[in-house]
This record gives sequence, structure tokens and C-alpha cells, in this order.
Amino acid sequence: MTLYSRETAPARIRPSRFDRLLRPVHTWVWTDPRRRARKLLRFAETEASGGQDLSRAAELTSDGLLRQLFLRHALDEQRHAELFRRRGRVLNRSLDGAAETRFEANWFAPGERGLDDLRVDGENDASLLAFLHLSEKAAAGRFALYREVLGADPETQGLFNTILRDEAFHMTYTHQQLVRVAPQEWSAVLWKARLGRLWKAYLRIAAAVAGLLGTMILLLQYALLLPPFALLAKRYARREPQGWFPARSSTPLRSQY
Ligand SMILES: [Fe+2]
Ligand SMILES: [Fe+2]
Repeated sequence: MTLYSRETAPARIRPSRFDRLLRPVHTWVWTDPRRRARKLLRFAETEASGGQDLSRAAELTSDGLLRQLFLRHALDEQRHAELFRRRGRVLNRSLDGAAETRFEANWFAPGERGLDDLRVDGENDASLLAFLHLSEKAAAGRFALYREVLGADPETQGLFNTILRDEAFHMTYTHQQLVRVAPQEWSAVLWKARLGRLWKAYLRIAAAVAGLLGTMILLLQYALLLPPFALLAKRYARREPQGWFPARSSTPLRSQY
């Protein structure tokens, strides 16, 4: 039984056309060192949770070769988590006292996002491999772009370069194993996984748009409906007599009501 070597990974990975179009946005996102540190720490969480899911996938599969590959993949993701965490902490320590920035632009620069959605229970080997292949391919393209735009921070750039080699390996082995376990229908399985990713992307966008619309409607309500009520309240308040004054109704106070 032969396991893959890292050299099977393609040497050159290019970001997707969409990400290349958004290159100025990515450059801006990664320019702020505080945001950079926070994003690396967030990536560490995603990688660690992906590693746990892959360990679970290794437990569930009955295919010996896949079990070895999933375990190796899980170890890679755990190592990535550690590398991201370490670099994020170093950056954070070097920035004590720098202005805080909350906006992380996770929608544009999500890291190895596919691993967020990984659900290994209930999947068969082929569908899991297709899902993993697409996620790793997308992550490898994004990491290639982050590496390009991080020229001002050679250490973080080097980190992405190292991790990118593993992601390329993940991308390659998942595709080759998919063809092995589903020689007839691998292409259909891959398309089904693509449609699933498209659907999830649509849901993310729809949720973001719904959140934005909700905020706008609330702001409009505050801006248009509250001022007339505030004016009316002020007007009636002016008519009220100042200080203590006798009760307007002559109802004797015999009971509470
Ligand atoms: Fe990773
Ligand atoms: Fe990966």
C-alpha cells in the first residue's frame, strides 16, 4: 500500500478568478496588523475543528488507505491550527496598544472555510472526498492569494507558503481517491458536491442580505417614526403643570383600583 508523497502536489496554485478580481480588497483586509492577527487566530479555530472532523472520518471509513490518508490529513490540519495560532499570538503581542479593529471581512477572506461545513456522519466515502476536494481546492487558491498580498509581512507570507504545500496535497489526494472509490460516477458526485457548495454560498449571501435589510429597516423606523412621537411627547409635557398639584379626579382613594 503506497501513501502519497508531498511532491505529488502541484507546485503552482492560482487563486480563482473571483478572488483575483477582489485582490485590492484582500490587500486592504490583510494590511491592518491587528486584523491580520485576529484572522490568523480565527483560521486556527477552523483548522483545528476540521482536523477533529477528519479524525472522525478516519474512524468511520472501512477503507484502509482512506483511513491512513484521513489521519494524515487530520494531523496536517492540527499542525496548521498550531502554526496559525502561534503566528497570531506573536502578532498580537507585538501590537500591544495599537488601535483595535473589529471588522475581519470574513466574507471576503474566510480561510479554509469548507472545513467549517464538514459533516462526516451520514456521508459515504465518495461524497466526503468530493466535498473535501472542493474545499481544499478553494482554500489552496485563497491561501495562494493571501501569500501574494502579504509582501509586507514575510513571516506570515512564509507561513501561508508552508501551509499551501499541504493544501495542494490535500486537494490532489482527495481527487485521486475519489476516482479510485467511485471510478464510474466520480464526476457526477463532484457536480453534486459543487451544487451543494453553491447552495450553501447562496444561503450565506441570503442571510447576509437579510441581516443588512433588517438593520436598514430598523434604522428607518428610528429615523422616521420615533421623531414625531418624541415631538408629541414634548408638546404634551409642556402642557403639564409643574410641581405638586391636586388630583384631577375626585375619586376617593378607598381601594387600589
Ligand atoms: Fe489546512
Ligand atoms: Fe487542508
